[in-house]
Amino acid sequence: MTSNPLPTDARRVRLYFALWPERHLAEALLVHGETLQRAIGGRLTRVESIHLTLAFLGAVPETRLDVLCDPPGSIAVPGFVMDFDRLGAWPHNGIGWIAPGADPSGLAQLQSRLSAWLASAGFELEARPFAPHVTLVRKARNRFETQVIEPVRWPVADFCLVRSTLSSAGSRYEVIARFKLPDGT
Ligand code: 2AM
Repeated sequence: MTSNPLPTDARRVRLYFALWPERHLAEALLVHGETLQRAIGGRLTRVESIHLTLAFLGAVPETRLDVLCDPPGSIAVPGFVMDFDRLGAWPHNGIGWIAPGADPSGLAQLQSRLSAWLASAGFELEARPFAPHVTLVRKARNRFETQVIEPVRWPVADFCLVRSTLSSAGSRYEVIARFKLPDGT
């Protein structure tokens, strides 16, 4: 029996927009991941996978990549700084995270402008409210009371479009486009 190849527009890629830290910052965030993991068990995020998701798109037809690689300039908020000073874990999904205690207004604005553009361009986004966090541990086994920690400072100068590939070894992420934000200083 021969099978028909899928039509080109049926090919899909799993995508999301995110903030992607420089390596030294990912390492600084992961130090807290190690603390968390000692307390709650689970699996530590790989250093090259550390990110903060702005908008998760799921599986998108490849033909729509061009649109996603060209966000309107009106989305770009000035660069901003985030202080990651909360360490915690969500019992409902076993995720251990680090997060900014105070929501930097640049982050909220960037996320809401991005979501509004994506919705107007016909992309389906999750309805759940935005809870900015970096996942440090998955499959946590124990509870963990949220701790206030010495802040890890993350200056944000761009945002990214990321491809996620699922395999038996877990998800692999690849930054496929970077969008610079105007200087915020
Ligand atoms: P998480 O880290 O809190 O799990 C890639 O999967 C990124 O998109 C992850 O940071 C993940 O968040 C986020 N994400 C948001 N919604 C998702 C979904 N429905 N399925 C998979 N990942 C999702």
